[in-house]
Amino acid sequence: MEKKTTHSKFGSKLGFVLAAAGSAVGLGNIWRFPYLAAKYGGGIFLLVYLILAVTFGFALMLTEIAIGRRTGRSVLGAYQTVEKHCAPLGWMAAVIPGLILPYYCAIGGWVLKYMTMFVIGQGTATAQPVVTGTGESVSFFGSFIGDLGGPTLFFLIYVILNAAVILLGVQKGIEKVSKLLMPVLAVLIVGIAIYTMTLDGAWEGIKYYILPDFERMTAEKLFKTIAGACSQLFYSMSIAMGILVTYGSYMKKEYSLENSVRQIEIFDTAIAFLAGLIIVPAVFVFSGGDSSALNAGPGLMFITLPQVFETMPGGQFIGAAFFVLVALAALTSSISLMETVVAAVMEKFRLTRVKSCIIVFGITIALGMLSVLGYSAWSGVTVFGLQFLDFFDFITNSLMMPILALLTCILIGWVVGTKYVEEEVLHGEKKFGAKWMYRIMIRFLCPIFMIIILITPFVTEI
Ligand code: PHE
Repeated sequence: MEKKTTHSKFGSKLGFVLAAAGSAVGLGNIWRFPYLAAKYGGGIFLLVYLILAVTFGFALMLTEIAIGRRTGRSVLGAYQTVEKHCAPLGWMAAVIPGLILPYYCAIGGWVLKYMTMFVIGQGTATAQPVVTGTGESVSFFGSFIGDLGGPTLFFLIYVILNAAVILLGVQKGIEKVSKLLMPVLAVLIVGIAIYTMTLDGAWEGIKYYILPDFERMTAEKLFKTIAGACSQLFYSMSIAMGILVTYGSYMKKEYSLENSVRQIEIFDTAIAFLAGLIIVPAVFVFSGGDSSALNAGPGLMFITLPQVFETMPGGQFIGAAFFVLVALAALTSSISLMETVVAAVMEKFRLTRVKSCIIVFGITIALGMLSVLGYSAWSGVTVFGLQFLDFFDFITNSLMMPILALLTCILIGWVVGTKYVEEEVLHGEKKFGAKWMYRIMIRFLCPIFMIIILITPFVTEI
């Protein structure tokens, strides 16, 4: 049933692993993981997260890459090739990245702005309040995103950067860029972590981040910790965005699947852990041990951290390195989103890469401008009570992605059978070490976790 195509391929296993790790390492690792870990009892969260990564994350990631490699198709064709009635899953897997990409690029634009400010030595300005025309004092961040020109310009630059990489293709674009940027990212993060750990008072923050806090742990809190770790993991590993299927289709048959998935997981988790070693102690020192400063959501990265860099010795330099790091992490994630959509459009409409890229570029600009305008000219407009950016984020992350992952588990676990994936794993290997664990995860535990992720936002709302 599998179709042979003249599909592009990654030139090496390392190229594949770094490209997939590049997709996985993103804003989620750098700001979301550290504050979730700090909030959910430090070491306990880290432990739960690790256990889930090698079981739940492993099974879902392996499944998607195997589907991609076995079918050799973009998401639209891949699910249909697995089971002919499953075309709607392919559509979902193409629409999800198509909806995430525009708003991710809007945030990418904000990161570029901050990176530019720090690199040209204007970083301290980002920590100062700005007085508006009406005499009101707002944060630099609030004033920047509330403006139309700046965010639009940086958004456009960010989308153009993405499109440039995608136009170059799989080997010359994605693989080359990942092989160059991922090692730079790793060196930067290790360097900054070592520096912040040596700050006076950092030790208290590190203890808060790493040591398990059993005293404050209740059954309810443990449940919330597991649910929080699950949804973080799911997002962090770029699961149910069509990305892993697409990148899997570019993976040569002789590379070991099991091994590659392990390496991607280690990379992703290590970067998230190191980001925590930077952010938690830094914010702790800055706020004098007040852990609520860690809870500031997106404001943590754009408002609190610049203030931390302002007070830290050598902070402007570290701030510049930090925002370069964040920009690299964001870029390698958004190119994976764009590639997924471009590949689907190429295959479906039999277009060249250039034409497909132009179409996706246009759609991204149009939809992304909604998110950009949502903070300025159209700040009064909401969809179901949410701003455009939050709306796109909610329907993809909280609804469509868990549903797609759940359906994928049912498809592989119960309809075509886990053999579909197991046979693919055995292509590059003599044996599939984690076979039993894989079967149990995909058939029983992953679907249960998916249902938990799906209902949690609604239950907590109520
Ligand atoms: N995995 C990314 C992260 O941890 C999230 C992401 C990847 C989002 C790819 C979009 C596209 O931040």
